[in-house]
Amino acid sequence: MPRINIDNSEEIMIGDERFVLYLPEEQLQARIKELGEEITREYESKVPVFIGLLNGSFLFMADLIKNVALDCEIDFIRLSSYGDAKISSGSVKMVKDLNCDIEGRDVVVVEDIVDTGLSINYIERLMENHKPASVKIVSLLLKPESLKYDAKIDYIGFKIPSKFVVGYGLDYAQKYRNLRSIYVLSENSENGV
Ligand code: IMP
Ligand code: MG
Repeated sequence: MPRINIDNSEEIMIGDERFVLYLPEEQLQARIKELGEEITREYESKVPVFIGLLNGSFLFMADLIKNVALDCEIDFIRLSSYGDAKISSGSVKMVKDLNCDIEGRDVVVVEDIVDTGLSINYIERLMENHKPASVKIVSLLLKPESLKYDAKIDYIGFKIPSKFVVGYGLDYAQKYRNLRSIYVLSENSENGV
């Protein structure tokens, strides 16, 4: 298989599509540190349960909780919404449920990116069924112009334009999650806007 450059190269080619460096590793880590500190202040004297949405949020979840100076627990849910393409399928189903009891707990849902809001809208309703004490949503990225569903995001890393991005957990056809920085599809590629 081809080797890929996981460092902060200025651009990467995926097939004949060009992706350019958009959010470098240092900028991501600096913002995640701020989010972790903010959550630490707001959950002082609580023991939050961080619930990551697989697969995209796994790196963000790891780096976020390393910046939360509180006792906390983690769990993961997996939804399936995007297929292997760049366009949302418009429907969502759960393929891995929670493994812990969140009744009476302070839940922080950790998402990589909110696009149409479909996944987060589904999760918000799902969480309420479990009767947690509170639910907040943190998303590393938000595409405000793509929102179609009602979704309240409490902590946002970066608001970005409605362009396709990869890296740092975000995939393109299941690959490129291991890039340390986030890359955006360049203007002159299809779907690059
Ligand atoms: P939503 O349900 O439309 O808000 O889409 C959310 C999910 O779609 C995210 O959890 C991602 O897995 C995926 N997604 C949305 N935009 C992108 C993108 O630009 N790159 C990679 N995955 C994306
Ligand atoms: Mg995701």
